[in-house]
Amino acid sequence: MSGARERTEKAMAAVPAFIEARRSIRAFTSEPVPRALLDSLVEAACLAPAPHHSRPWRWVVIDTDTGRRSLADGMGAQWRIDLAGDGVGPERIDELVESSRTKLTGAPALLLGCLTWDGLDRYPDETRRRAEWGMALLSLGAGVENLMLAAADAGLASCWVAAPIFCPEAARDALDLPQPWSPAALILVGSPAPDYTPRTRPPVPLDELRVNR
Ligand SMILES: Cc1cc2nc3c(=O)[nH]c(=O)nc-3n(C[C@H](O)[C@H](O)[C@H](O)COP(=O)(O)O)c2cc1C
Repeated sequence: MSGARERTEKAMAAVPAFIEARRSIRAFTSEPVPRALLDSLVEAACLAPAPHHSRPWRWVVIDTDTGRRSLADGMGAQWRIDLAGDGVGPERIDELVESSRTKLTGAPALLLGCLTWDGLDRYPDETRRRAEWGMALLSLGAGVENLMLAAADAGLASCWVAAPIFCPEAARDALDLPQPWSPAALILVGSPAPDYTPRTRPPVPLDELRVNR
């Protein structure tokens, strides 16, 4: 095999380094992230592919104590109700909710991705309505990955937090957002704490995760 071809095949077999470089980093320094940089992350998110040329996303940039606390407390109140409904004891509830609050209020910036029906197709039946919303949600996920890759490229740490998708109304009301916005993805952003080591990433078991036809 020629050297050039061997190099090309090696390059094709490797995951690009910028994708490998993004890790979920859950600890930050207290250094604020400049708003212009946060805006550039949102812009990267908004370059994601979306169904039929829509942009069904809205982003909330939260970098004030009031904003962080309102969101953490609003979602925490709903989580308490859900955990109690699951039969979790009061002490454990306090522990879980407090730990989540500490995580959210300790991040220099929170970027909250919301979905709207703006630009999406409307269908009279539930099956297609769900598929349409599902497409929008997929595109928000693509946007979040863009955002996190852009953050890693800028030397920032980030971590996706699932909470708002479990309590969209609580998140929306906590931040006084417009009613049609449905919070769905929260990303913590900041400078990485120097002593944080990401969890070991297991190798991808390709033969279990894909088939060829
Ligand atoms: C939809 C979604 C929700 C997630 N929610 C949380 C979360 O609530 N808390 C957390 O610490 N990490 C959360 N993560 C991050 C995952 O744990 C992480 O991506 C996974 O362990 C792989 O590690 P890596 O991102 O470093 O490659 C979430 C990831 C996704 C995609």
